[in-house]
Amino acid sequence: MTIKTTHTAEVKELLEKVAGFHMEGGNERVKKIVHRFMSDVFQLIEDFDVTPEEFWTAVYYVGDLGKNGEASLLAPGLGMDKYLDIRMDAQDEAAGLAGGTPRTIEGPLYVAGAPLCESFARLDDGTDQSDEVMLLKGQVTDEDGTPLANAIVDVWHADAKGGYSYFDQSQSEYNLRRRIKTDENGRYVARSIIPSGYGCPPEGSTQALLNQLGRHGRRPAHIHFFISAPGHKHLTTQINLAGDEYTYDDFAFATRDELVVEARPVERSAEGEQYGVTGPVIEVEFDFQLVSTDKAELQARHERKRALEDAAVA
Ligand code: DHB
Ligand code: FE
Repeated sequence: MTIKTTHTAEVKELLEKVAGFHMEGGNERVKKIVHRFMSDVFQLIEDFDVTPEEFWTAVYYVGDLGKNGEASLLAPGLGMDKYLDIRMDAQDEAAGLAGGTPRTIEGPLYVAGAPLCESFARLDDGTDQSDEVMLLKGQVTDEDGTPLANAIVDVWHADAKGGYSYFDQSQSEYNLRRRIKTDENGRYVARSIIPSGYGCPPEGSTQALLNQLGRHGRRPAHIHFFISAPGHKHLTTQINLAGDEYTYDDFAFATRDELVVEARPVERSAEGEQYGVTGPVIEVEFDFQLVSTDKAELQARHERKRALEDAAVA
């Protein structure tokens, strides 16, 4: 039988003391949120009759999660990033700012301050000659299809082993990360390599919990973007390469139909040759539509702690 204690005067008083309700200082919003959060935790312990052993297992889990730096990896795995996207989509809808290319989650692996290039960038450092050459191209426009010159396409993706530079120390600095300024027609072109999907560290805390849920920790092959232009809403998104085993089975729930793209092998690429990229390549084409807004706060990305943020200039 579950012992009921959460509604006793003693526990109610405890929760109010925990949240600092009787103290002058502090932050009212934080107090309210901590009060609600701890009330829900106590209720959960009651409803599931959580044992002290289970409770301390959870506490040590959180400690480990911090130690191996996986909190921002677990969050998307538990659908939190996706849920924030759902809320932001609804807010945009309500504010008349819906439309354009759909957003999807940022993920935890962005590094600020990648080199800025004009119209074209080579993203890979050429280390692995056996990688498949990708020619990534497209156009940035507003919702009416008017090209946006000088938009910034901030792109990052994994290597053929699914690793990201900076986090994977074996890669060169800013490998597979660039900022590309669109040309006068709003176009961008990049030479790179076809990325592989990503897998959570198999011995990490995220995978340990996913195992308990009977879930995998895999993401399909994908490419991340921040797209920005003055007078337009900042866009955080990704494209997924079609045909990956995990295209529609992403542990981070980032796939959206509009963001799935075919990778097409071609003998030659006209856009590539414009920048000296010859020979057979795999073309990936994606156009972005931005929504116009005069609100400065919507033109910048959300504040978040990101690797090398201080190095980000211009
Ligand atoms: C996550 C996102 C990524 O883009 C990635 O490569 C790995 C993990 C994530 O949201 O957890
Ligand atoms: Fe990623």
